[in-house]
Amino acid sequence: RVHKIAAIPADGIGPEVIAAGLEVLEALASHDGGFKLEVENFPWSSEYYLEHGHYIPEGGLEKLKTFDAIFFGAVGSQQVPDHVSLWGLRLPIAQGFDQYANIRPARVLPGVNSPLKGGEDIDWVIVRENSEGEYAGHGGRAHKGLPIEVGTETAVFTRAGVERIHRFAFELAQKRPAKHLTLVTKSNAQRFGMVMWDEIFYEVAADYPDVKVDRELVDAVTTRMVLKPKTLDVVVATNLHADILSDLAAALSGSLGIGPTANLNPDRRFPSMFEPIHGSAFDITGKGVANPVATFWTAAMMLEHLGEDAAARRLMQAVEAVTADKIHTPDLGGKATTADVTRAVCDFIRAS
Ligand code: NAI
Ligand code: MG
Repeated sequence: RVHKIAAIPADGIGPEVIAAGLEVLEALASHDGGFKLEVENFPWSSEYYLEHGHYIPEGGLEKLKTFDAIFFGAVGSQQVPDHVSLWGLRLPIAQGFDQYANIRPARVLPGVNSPLKGGEDIDWVIVRENSEGEYAGHGGRAHKGLPIEVGTETAVFTRAGVERIHRFAFELAQKRPAKHLTLVTKSNAQRFGMVMWDEIFYEVAADYPDVKVDRELVDAVTTRMVLKPKTLDVVVATNLHADILSDLAAALSGSLGIGPTANLNPDRRFPSMFEPIHGSAFDITGKGVANPVATFWTAAMMLEHLGEDAAARRLMQAVEAVTADKIHTPDLGGKATTADVTRAVCDFIRAS
């Protein structure tokens, strides 16, 4: 089996963690994995933007379409406003390829300390609507700079968009031991789109009688994540809400450097994109200390998506053996470098 991977390392620590990720993927493939990866590297980044005036060149998305998966680092630079970089690279891919389901598991890996009392019990999957809502791109500004200036940011929710993410979340919850799905909205203060979210959720719930459901307002769920982490399993929330909750979830599982993401196009018309949750991390860029675990876990999700379940399991076993062994980067309180962790994971793969 041959899988075509488009690597887009982009900015900051993106290139460091993507290089590490490709190294472990290569170790898996060459160690009797039964598959090969054909990797093409794309130089699209903020530096590329400053030189060319765009992140994605003409025909770039068409080119990406021919790949089986996209392995993405991080985008964001101190030289380009964040709304320009995000809308220049990550969002055109996620929205252009209708990657409407953004999946963010959070679990405390062996040997890692959660900042939370009882945090070792965290085992969540956050399902983030990834195609519309608050990041639909609707809004505008008028009377710039004047006292009467107005800026609007309109969240757009469609019945089709809401129904498909709920259905996806139910299917996912149904496959997990706890079979428990929590709906998160803000339908007390926001009376239209959010109330529609709630209503469609319960319509879809009727098709999944074996899944236990409950609901929580987004502010309240943050306290529940911290104070009663064991009471959550799968959470479904809007683009903005789940974006925030999943950073919190990653931090509670030990570090932002651990959390993985899959941006899935579930109907497989287009390639899906896999990336760590974290961003460019300017403060540690070039120091060789970025935690590559988020990217390894992300690579495991990519392998699963490609049908390489055995390799995905082997990779997570290797990662967990290494975290259990306390080979930790500084964000986890250790002294290991990105290269140390990567080498340890590759060694484990080759020895297993
Ligand atoms: P960030 O995730 O880059 O960093 C937040 C903190 O977490 C920093 O102290 C950083 O050192 C630490 N951290 C992040 N990843 C780490 C890793 N792998 N190992 C060790 N420590 C790690 O978020 P921040 O600072 O808000 O954003 C920086 C830039 O990244 C901005 O331009 C932002 O727009 C962009 N960004 C891009 C994302 C993406 O491409 N999907 C996601 C989040 C932010
Ligand atoms: Mg985020």
